[in-house]
Amino acid sequence: MESLRKLIHDITEETTLITATLSQLRKREGVSYTKVQIKPVELKKKIHYQFAYVHPNKVVHQNIPAEEAEEVIVKLFEQTFRQGMICTPDADYQILISKKYKVSILTKSPSKTSADLAHNRKKQYVLEEGHPISFLVELGIMNEQGKVHARKYDKFRQINRFLEMVEDVLPSLPEGRPLTIVDFGCGKSYLTFALYHYLTIQERRTLNVVGLDLKADVIEHCNQLASRLNYSNLRFLVGDIADYNELEQVDMVVTLHACDTATDAALEKAVRWNASVILSVPCCQHELFAQVESPVMEPLLSHGILKERFSALATDGIRAKLLDILGYKTQLLEFIDLEHTPKNILIRAVKGQSDRKEQLWREYTAFRDFLNAKPYLEKACADLLPASVDSE
Ligand SMILES: C[S@@+](CC[C@H](N)C(=O)[O-])C[C@H]1O[C@@H](n2cnc3c(N)ncnc32)[C@H](O)[C@@H]1O
Repeated sequence: MESLRKLIHDITEETTLITATLSQLRKREGVSYTKVQIKPVELKKKIHYQFAYVHPNKVVHQNIPAEEAEEVIVKLFEQTFRQGMICTPDADYQILISKKYKVSILTKSPSKTSADLAHNRKKQYVLEEGHPISFLVELGIMNEQGKVHARKYDKFRQINRFLEMVEDVLPSLPEGRPLTIVDFGCGKSYLTFALYHYLTIQERRTLNVVGLDLKADVIEHCNQLASRLNYSNLRFLVGDIADYNELEQVDMVVTLHACDTATDAALEKAVRWNASVILSVPCCQHELFAQVESPVMEPLLSHGILKERFSALATDGIRAKLLDILGYKTQLLEFIDLEHTPKNILIRAVKGQSDRKEQLWREYTAFRDFLNAKPYLEKACADLLPASVDSE
């Protein structure tokens, strides 16, 4: 352990850590998280280390002052984890600890460039005001000095809120290789540009991002902007979600306000790609409005406005339950949106293991049948749903 302690001491003392990931639990009893990710951040003008404890369906963050971090990391290796990857600008260190506490440290060439701590240090918002961020300047949200225009402040806050939701799921994305991300129904793509900036510049990931939309003029505009920004791995294509079949592997699918069942077409693609993360803000959920029927619910369904709102909520409940059955851990979060409706629901689904498929399926079918619903997503994923679950 001495060699490992020295390595951690040197890295924390010289603040050369870019990221560290600790994994492979020594024993499961008494530990509810499965991995810990660490990175430097600046809080109140002092360097801290942010520890992200990754549980099966949540991530708990803890910021620890730099002088205490060494001890915490060493303890995690001594008591909890048997593997680690520590990235610095000079080298990547792969750490393996045997059952008998024999430590081996493999030194590899660095996979990440030096962390721009100026970005991390200031992090209260994911994107900070005060220095110009090129895509925000291009989109007219900031001026060239980095000041957010007063009338665009809500947009700036919304972009940051979206990036916080992305930040929470970073530990669920594959590491050590480029990430492929698709944004279905990208429209003007404010959030696609934000995602690209955040992941490439702040998180130092290599990306391949595709935005797809039906509107040729909007796509042309987005491609021109990507080229002005030198976002070389961000491409925009014209096409229909349901017909898109260019990629074989996609790690994250984003679909924000793709209308009605276009959202379901995007969710189906994500599920078939086995995407690690899905972020979806549905809108115009009309499908169920024409289907729902329930004598018991007559006092609600006989009023058009209530039926419309109920149908939209039921549609998202159905989508979330189907994603759970299809092996995702799904959360519904509030997403403040300014262009479409003031409040929206974001479906955030992270690939996991479902050990309750049959019970979830029973809950789902009871709800579906009660409402007389025939959801698009169920039909589209029929071959992945319980007929095949039952025969497994
Ligand atoms: C309301 S806009 C949202 C744009 C952007 N995602 C946002 O949140 O600001 C919906 C976009 O989805 C696109 N869209 C709708 N159905 C689609 C489909 N089947 N295939 C591709 N794009 C679609 C529309 O052209 C439109 O640009």
